Amino acid sequence: MRALKSLVPAFALALAAASPLPAFGQTANSTVTAASPDGTLVLTVSTDSSNRPIWSLIRKGKLLIGASKLGFTLTDGLNMVRGFRITGSETASADQTWEQPWGERRFVTDKHNEVLVYFQQNADYGNRLMNVRFRLFDNGFGLRYELPQQPNLKTMKIADEWTEFDVAQAGTAWWITAGEWNRYEQVYQKTPIDAVSTAHTPITMRLDDGTHLAFHEAALVDYSAMWFKRAEGRQFRSTLAPSSSGARVIRELPFNTPWRTIRIADSAAGLVENDLELNLNEPNKLGDVSWFKPMKYVGIWWGMIRGDWTWAQGPRHGATTARAKEYIDFAARHGFGGVLVEGWDKGWNGDWFGHGQDFSYTEAVPDFDLKAVTAYAASKHVQLIGHNETGGNIANYEAQLDDAMKLYQSLGMHSVKTGYVADAGGIIAPGDAPGETRMEFHDGQRQVQHHLKVVETAAKYHVAIDAHEPVKDTGLRRTYPNWIDREGARGMEYNAWGQFANGPDHEPTLVYTRMLSGPMDFTPGVLSLEGAKHAPLASTLAKQLGLYLAIYSPIQMAADFIENLDAHPKELDFISKVPADWSESHLIAGEVGDYAIFARKDRNSADWYVGGVNGATARNLTLAMDFLEPGKTYTATIYKDGEGATYLTDARHRIAYDTRTLKKGDTLPLWLAPGGGAAIRLHPGR
Ligand code: NOJ
Ligand code: CA
Repeated sequence: MRALKSLVPAFALALAAASPLPAFGQTANSTVTAASPDGTLVLTVSTDSSNRPIWSLIRKGKLLIGASKLGFTLTDGLNMVRGFRITGSETASADQTWEQPWGERRFVTDKHNEVLVYFQQNADYGNRLMNVRFRLFDNGFGLRYELPQQPNLKTMKIADEWTEFDVAQAGTAWWITAGEWNRYEQVYQKTPIDAVSTAHTPITMRLDDGTHLAFHEAALVDYSAMWFKRAEGRQFRSTLAPSSSGARVIRELPFNTPWRTIRIADSAAGLVENDLELNLNEPNKLGDVSWFKPMKYVGIWWGMIRGDWTWAQGPRHGATTARAKEYIDFAARHGFGGVLVEGWDKGWNGDWFGHGQDFSYTEAVPDFDLKAVTAYAASKHVQLIGHNETGGNIANYEAQLDDAMKLYQSLGMHSVKTGYVADAGGIIAPGDAPGETRMEFHDGQRQVQHHLKVVETAAKYHVAIDAHEPVKDTGLRRTYPNWIDREGARGMEYNAWGQFANGPDHEPTLVYTRMLSGPMDFTPGVLSLEGAKHAPLASTLAKQLGLYLAIYSPIQMAADFIENLDAHPKELDFISKVPADWSESHLIAGEVGDYAIFARKDRNSADWYVGGVNGATARNLTLAMDFLEPGKTYTATIYKDGEGATYLTDARHRIAYDTRTLKKGDTLPLWLAPGGGAAIRLHPGR
């Protein structure tokens, strides 16, 4: 055995000794143990009677994840599931703090212990090597496979990955179905854990003893996304997104898989204030990205989503030069940094949905003068946000990528929204032969490669990427901080398409599920509270402001028509002031799926902001102002649900304004309406 330094603190060993699991420490050649820095989590790794690698986790002396297998099946060789033995292990630990260029918090702490376990298959399987690195934080866990260079395995053609997670206790799960036609754009289900089918991650669970878990992955690079499939009971297993090449992943050795992760906490807040996936990603590879500035934006967008305007040319074409200038004027007047324009380019006139072969990313349509609009924007200190809808045709997009990004940089554009509207399995990718194409999944290996190619190319030209219909976020913004946000869930757009299309619980569910993966371009700020044909939103007016605190993105839209924003001067004032970059963020009240109230500190001033969203049930909260700086008095400008407000009727428009002085130690009572919310700006001084 290679140097095994025990990382298991004495008290964790004592707890473990009382448990039904195998004994801890280096008791036998076949068992390796490790613990998180304060001993909360204890890992055991060994092999079972069929020589299958297994791992388990104990938390605070109680079994959390029972014996769970590891391994791969291959399309062109014997399985890497049985016949393993442990040949050694190595430990390491870290305690460091690193800085984000932008985000929910400026400084991130990474404190962990890790153990790398060396497995080898016996001669019947060709003596193949497979290493697994386990990392233990006090509030989270990650494991990844590391496939070293070796004589009997050059290329891995992975039929599937067999990483198991045996959830030891019953409880509730919040999840969406993997592999669905509409990708991640689903309403979340809430079911018992043993009623989950195959879920996308993050999947969030609350166990019967109150422990909160969120299973996900980190650093998804050149690999297919992991779907979380229930095998039986509460036993889950990875299954990888499909690929046109048969094998779900093809990789040359050596390579590392993405991390398979679990956030682990006693409370909903502990899940949210948790940087597990960021810590498991590589540090910033781009260096200085100060050319990207967090900002708020408006856009020629809601009009097309509602159907009032069109992306295609014609009498109702949204993206005209004149309208773009109007939006730029509005942005300049109210301190918005950007204006998104969709439908500016050639390719929308035909049937773009799911095909996208006609899209040009460099040529504008005749009634949109790209040069004139970008020059006008620059004169007003506003940036045009580009839009590249692909219809899922990445073959067409990749062919134009360099030229497009180069053009945008030359026009002073520093962010581009991309889009991949096509059913799941509808990505048209370049094949091996010239002109050949292949169909791929939105989260298969080829599309994962594509997204990174876009982000890396964009970075060369100082362009940031906001991907819609993306692959899920796995913390890659740490490594590529120009990958600023994504959609990757059911956003505001659904509210344009039907009454209460996103129910009142949707956003307080997103906070604890989708949002654990990273920033979302949700596009809040529909102050009219109306979609197409006057379809009402399941939201009060105050909730539209609360969304800016609940759902983080470094670019935040005010999605409504500018006339509707102008019609609400007080709310518009809040939106124009609320930051999109924070030095601290705390969930000060909330439960999964029910409500979420954050306190966030502006990264560029001493102001604090408090607010968030409520689900269907009205509630009274008492918020503790513990986060404020001692000795300072703050003037609080409060936007809250008015008396009798409810998302269910026209009373959704009722909002109340209040001003108070508050200091550390004070409490603030707050009533949240059904489908309500609140937003508060705290500025030092009276
Ligand atoms: C779907 C996106 O989510 C939406 O924001 C965009 O406007 C349309 N696709 C068209 O690209
Ligand atoms: Ca979408």
